[in-house]
Amino acid sequence: MTKNLRGETVHKVLILDFGSQYTQLIARRIRELGVYSEIHPFNYPLEKIKAFAPDGIVLSGGPASVLDEKSPKCDIGIFKIGVPILGICYGMQLMAQLLGGRVEKGEKREYGPAEILILKESPLFADFPSNTPVKVWMSHGDRVETVPPGFYVLAQSPNSPISVMANEEKRLYGLQFHPEVVHTPDGKKILANFLFRICRLEPDWNIGSFIEQTIPKIKEQVGKGNVVCALSGGVDSSVVAVLLNKAIGKRLHAIFVNNGLLRAGEVEEVKEVFTQKIPLNFHYVDAEKRFLGILKGVTDPEEKRKRIGRLFIEVFEEEARRIGDVEFLAQGTLYPDVIESVSFKGPSATIKSHHNVGGLPERMHLKLIEPLRELFKDEVRALAKELGLPEFIIKRQPFPGPGLAIRILGEVTKERLSILRAADKIVNEEMKRFGLYDKVWQSFAVLLPLKTVGVMGDERTYEHVIALRIVDSTDGMTADWVRVPYELLARISNRIINEVKGVNRVVYDISSKPPSTIEWE
Ligand code: XMP
Repeated sequence: MTKNLRGETVHKVLILDFGSQYTQLIARRIRELGVYSEIHPFNYPLEKIKAFAPDGIVLSGGPASVLDEKSPKCDIGIFKIGVPILGICYGMQLMAQLLGGRVEKGEKREYGPAEILILKESPLFADFPSNTPVKVWMSHGDRVETVPPGFYVLAQSPNSPISVMANEEKRLYGLQFHPEVVHTPDGKKILANFLFRICRLEPDWNIGSFIEQTIPKIKEQVGKGNVVCALSGGVDSSVVAVLLNKAIGKRLHAIFVNNGLLRAGEVEEVKEVFTQKIPLNFHYVDAEKRFLGILKGVTDPEEKRKRIGRLFIEVFEEEARRIGDVEFLAQGTLYPDVIESVSFKGPSATIKSHHNVGGLPERMHLKLIEPLRELFKDEVRALAKELGLPEFIIKRQPFPGPGLAIRILGEVTKERLSILRAADKIVNEEMKRFGLYDKVWQSFAVLLPLKTVGVMGDERTYEHVIALRIVDSTDGMTADWVRVPYELLARISNRIINEVKGVNRVVYDISSKPPSTIEWE
C-alpha cells in the first residue's frame, strides 16, 4: 500500500506482461473496478517489484509455451513475497510449472467459448450460484496436467480438467480462461473477487487519479525541454494538449493547422476553446491556400491523401522549426492504435500513421510522448470531461486527417468545399435534433462527382448530388449503416435541397464495411 500525491493511500496491482494481446484489457478491467494498476514486462526485476510494493500481482497470458525453454519467465521469488497472485492462461501454466506442477501440450488447441464447473467454494467465486456452469472464453494450447503441491483443482471443463487451480493459504490462483474479455460474461466478477476479497483492496482510483499520476511523469520525462503537438480539436489530441499544458505550461506548443479542409465552424470553435476557455500555447497556422493549391486538378483519392499528408508534415515542421529548440512530440496514440500497429496490417495502419504525423519524429529527431497509450477511447472521453473540455470536443465523432478532401469525389475546390460544408452542417444539426449524433460512430455528407436533372418551380435544374453516410461501429474496422428513421432522412434531404445552393438530390448510402469503407475515398 502506498500513498498518492494527495497523501491518500492507494492500492496497486502489478500486471506482469507475457505478451498477450489482452494484457491492456486486464489493466482496463482493474481500472474499471477502481483500482490502480501498472503493467511491467515479465522480467521486471524482483527488487523493483518489491520496491513497487503491489497489493496483488496478475500474470498475463501470452503466445509462448512454457514447455519451450526460451519462453518468458518471471522471477520465481514473486511467489514468496506474500501477496496474492492471479495467473491467467500462460500465467497459470507458468505458475504451475515454477511451483512444481506439470504442464503438457493439450491434445488440441482450445479456442472459444467453454463452460466450467466450480468444484469447491472459494472467495474467487464468491456470489456465484452453486452447481451452475460458468461461461468462459478459452484460448490455449498447453494445459496444466498436475497442480503444484499445496494447490487443488477449483474448477474443471470438459476439455480442461484443471480450468482453475488454487492455493488458498498462499492466495495463489490460476485461471486457464480469460476473465478480462467480454466473452467471459462474469469475468469482471472474478477479477473483482480477486481484488476485493482476496487482495482485500477497496476501490480508490478513478480517472482523476490518472491525471494526478500522469502529470509528474510528463514533467520528469520532459525535464526542461520543449514539446510540440498537432492539435486537431479531436478528443485525443485535445486531451494530450491539456494534460501537457497542465504539466509543463508554455513549453507545450500546440500546433493547429487549418488545412482548409475542415467542417463548418470548426476552426473558430477550436481556436476559441484553446485561446479562451482553456488557454494554452496555441499556434494557429493558416495553410488553407497551400493545401488548396496542391489539390488543384487532383482527383485520384490516393494522390489526394499523399499530397495532404506530405504537406501537413511540411507545414508542421516549419512551425516547429520556428519554435526552435524542440525535443519532444506529444501524440494522442490510444491503446487500440498500439495493437493495430503491431498486429493489424491493413489500411488502418497507414491511416493512423498519417493521423499521428507519421515519419515526423524520425525526420526531426523528436522523442515521443504518448500519455494516452494505455487508454481506450471511452476512458479518454472520461478524461476529457474531467479536464473540463467542452462537450462538442468530448462527443466529437472521428474525423479523418485529410478532412473533407476525401468526402469530395473529384477535384477539391473552394466552391465544392462550401457546398459540402453547408450540407454536412445540416446533417449534423438534424442528427443532434433527433438525439442520434452521439449514438452513431459517424454521420456525414459526401459530395459526388456528378450532376443530375431535377425540377424547381417551372425550371429544369442540373445540379450536384449529396450522399449521406451514417454508420455504427465500435472501432472503425467494421461498420454498418444505421437504420435511421425515415422522418430524419426526409428532413435532412428537404433541408439540403432547399438550403444548399447547387444540390438537387440526396441519396442514402446503405453499404456496410466490409466490403465498402466508411469514407468514400
Ligand atoms: P474507412 O474509410 O477506412 O475509415 O472505413 C475507417 C475510419 O477511419 C477514419 N479515416 C481516417 N482517419 N486519417 C484519419 O485520421 C485518415 O486518413 C482516415 N481515413 C479514414 C474514418 O473516418 C473512419 O472513422
